[in-house]
Amino acid sequence: MSIAKGREITISVLKFNPRAKSSKPGFVDYIIEETPGMTLFIALMKIREEYDPDLSFDFVCRAGICGSCGMIVNGKPVLGCRTLIANYPTGKLQVMPMPAFELIKDLSVNTGKWMDAMSVKVQSWIVTNKETDISKLEERVEPEVADEVFELDRCIECGICVASCGTKLMRPDFIGAVGLNRVARFEVDPHDNRTAEDFYELIGDDDGIFGCMSLMACEDHCPKHLPLQSKIAYLRRRLVALR
Ligand code: SF4
Ligand code: FES
Repeated sequence: MSIAKGREITISVLKFNPRAKSSKPGFVDYIIEETPGMTLFIALMKIREEYDPDLSFDFVCRAGICGSCGMIVNGKPVLGCRTLIANYPTGKLQVMPMPAFELIKDLSVNTGKWMDAMSVKVQSWIVTNKETDISKLEERVEPEVADEVFELDRCIECGICVASCGTKLMRPDFIGAVGLNRVARFEVDPHDNRTAEDFYELIGDDDGIFGCMSLMACEDHCPKHLPLQSKIAYLRRRLVALR
């Protein structure tokens, strides 16, 4: 009995170690055999195990939950663990690290550092004057409001919306769809007592809500299909009156 061989695929990876003086950016081609259901995560693991132990990339959950495996494949930002090789009919994948974030090495970028700074900038926490009394029941929240908060809370901070954003290329301090989504999440939350004026202080400029050029790539590529553009449009309508 003969076992059918998978097709040969070429994964071309941009390798670079910014901390090594001798390192220069360049593509390295790896030719491997595709296996059934192979994801980019599986392909990169195979390359690291069998061909190049020096290859750096990030994965944690392998299930589209942790947000650590964002990378650029054939020009588009994707989650490596949710990317099926079978969806690339030519069998050629050019893989690069996401722009806009500090490069650690090869495909590994520091999204955490960027997300931390963004969280501080938009004050990504409940702001309230009310004292918390833990002996009392929690305040009731209408189910439809809770649903809206949960919907926006589905963001996994993968950075794909930032990596795909043309505005971010022009304005390095732009907080991106992920930052504006975060503001929208607290704006809708009845536990947060901030007013439109308070949010205007945080994002009422070209690095915030008025910087977005509505190019839509954030929403096109968001792996969680968050309603980024409608939330940005809503916030802009709410805050433009205060300009
Ligand atoms: S909004 Fe979407 S693309 Fe952006 S960080 Fe969150 S999950 Fe990723
Ligand atoms: S490894 Fe967690 S989202 Fe891909």
